[in-house]
Amino acid sequence: MTGAAGQIGSELVPALREKYGVDRVVATDIRMPGPPTTAPQGPFEYLDCTRADQVQEVVRRYRVRAIYHLAALLSAIAESRPQAAWNLNMGGLYHVLEVARQYRCAVFFPSSIGAFGPTTPRDMAPQDTVQRPTTMYGVTKVSGELICDYYASRFGVDVRGLRLPGLISHVAPPGGGTTDYAVEIFYQAIRYRHYTCFLRGDTALDMMYMADAIRAILQLMEADRTRLIHHNAFNVTAINVTPERLATEIRKHVPEFVIDYEVDPIRQAIADSWPRSVDDGAARAEWDWSPAYDVAAMTKDMLEKLGTKLRPAR
Ligand SMILES: NC(=O)c1ccc[n+]([C@@H]2O[C@H](COP(=O)([O-])OP(=O)(O)OC[C@H]3O[C@@H](n4cnc5c(N)ncnc54)[C@H](O)[C@@H]3O)[C@@H](O)[C@H]2O)c1
Repeated sequence: MTGAAGQIGSELVPALREKYGVDRVVATDIRMPGPPTTAPQGPFEYLDCTRADQVQEVVRRYRVRAIYHLAALLSAIAESRPQAAWNLNMGGLYHVLEVARQYRCAVFFPSSIGAFGPTTPRDMAPQDTVQRPTTMYGVTKVSGELICDYYASRFGVDVRGLRLPGLISHVAPPGGGTTDYAVEIFYQAIRYRHYTCFLRGDTALDMMYMADAIRAILQLMEADRTRLIHHNAFNVTAINVTPERLATEIRKHVPEFVIDYEVDPIRQAIADSWPRSVDDGAARAEWDWSPAYDVAAMTKDMLEKLGTKLRPAR
């Protein structure tokens, strides 16, 4: 796995190790993973995925069969550093696909709702639709989807992927995306009973609890290939929510919680360029996708898990 120390990798590594064996999952990143947890620790390698030689060396040495390619710059950071985002998001993916072609590895590639743009239908964005994103993140995600499709059809590489919505999790902090508010709000609700949100209160976006995202990745990678019509870039979703709605849900557990708004024009513009919701019918039909957490179940679990980790500020 590349980018294994990030928000998704911090939970996908232990999940894969539990399923396939601790020593059979090689975590790699350019920074060390977070503090050791109770989960058994397996192999970790320094790997900069913009370096083809480093990708190849780890794949060769460990006889890797599948690459989970998570390393990327996320939407808000990519907008502040577009050249670096192109270099990492496209350069890293290209090296991964080339090595996968040569060493016959399967590949998992996480695309995003950021792969859509303002001309995509805004409600229930279809699986196959117009994709003209206006952010560098979106440009790299659409290009990534296309080059994955090319390696699948031209070279027979088994590349599978999801268009993930904003992910909500309590293990590792988010890495600079537009949907980060939906994680920060929980930390601030517990610590300060107050959160200042950088998106407008009525900004509807699709989200998913990390437990569902991990299950989706494992399920897609194990899906029967003959049933997959799309194989890559599947829309998946679980929760459709606005900051106002999330605050209302949190208030059911933390009645004194207050939300106010200081809108960041850059992140608001990114959110406004994305669909309000997506249609995940293809994932449901082709590999039986079905989320377990709605907004109420996710909120309850987030507050319980974070409540044991954080102390309220005095
Ligand atoms: N988290 C979300 O809400 C979300 C939603 C949709 C799609 N995705 C996609 O999922 C993937 C993982 O997202 P995440 O939230 O875990 O990201 P993250 O920012 O939390 O983690 C990315 C990791 O990549 C590492 N990295 C940076 N440069 C690298 C390099 N040159 N070589 C190797 N590693 C490098 C970072 O150190 C970091 O640990 C990304 O492709 C992202 O676009 C995430």
